[in-house]
Amino acid sequence: MPPAELRLPIETERLRLRDFRLEDAQDVHAYGSDPEVTRYMPWGPNTPEETAAFIARALEQQATWPRLDVGLAIEHRTLGVVVGSIALHLRDIPHRTLEMGYCLRQDLWGQGIVTEAGQALLRLGFEELGLHRITATCDVRNTGSYRVMEKLGLRREGEMRQDRQVRGVWRDTYLYAILAEAWSRPIN
Ligand SMILES: CC(C)(COP(=O)(O)OP(=O)(O)OC[C@H]1O[C@@H](n2cnc3c(N)ncnc32)[C@H](O)[C@@H]1OP(=O)(O)O)[C@@H](O)C(=O)NCCC(=O)NCCS
Repeated sequence: MPPAELRLPIETERLRLRDFRLEDAQDVHAYGSDPEVTRYMPWGPNTPEETAAFIARALEQQATWPRLDVGLAIEHRTLGVVVGSIALHLRDIPHRTLEMGYCLRQDLWGQGIVTEAGQALLRLGFEELGLHRITATCDVRNTGSYRVMEKLGLRREGEMRQDRQVRGVWRDTYLYAILAEAWSRPIN
């Protein structure tokens, strides 16, 4: 399951999931500096320097082998700009487990965009990478985020109380996951 064998870009009906490029900085900063977007994130709202550092890290990761942290840009094919990101963290290769994370610029929320990107990622993870388990976590107050997970078929496995501090405040976190066997099982 070598993550570097990822075949990019991944195209969906409305989106192109691809590696970040230096010239994406402005688009990334548009959502990364929005306090509404970063409200439940451990980072942000970004300064221009922090966005530049994010892009630099993404470019560095693209050059590593194996690629254990893959941050992909979500490019909106019609708009022709980067509108968000979806990340794959392959931190538990022996157990074929991946953690995903995502964010989207605010004016496009509620159109099913991250669900569409997430579906492509689950397909990649289970059908191409042969993963066993895909997980995601979110702040318990982040309804939009766990709705995405539920629409993707992830199940809530638990609530971790005060497991991390975000901007000095302890937060509670939901853990969600989906297994390969559930992905391949037809709905109904
Ligand atoms: C969470 C986020 C990724 C969702 O992306 P999106 O493309 O808007 O998601 P989708 O449109 O695919 O689905 C969102 C679902 O949540 C629902 N939803 C969104 N915000 C909600 C809210 N505040 N309360 C209740 N439901 C909400 C939507 O109605 C939709 O469900 P539906 O299709 O059943 O109506 C996006 O809002 C975002 O980037 N937020 C900021 C960053 C973030 O929090 N990332 C996740 C960190 S764990």
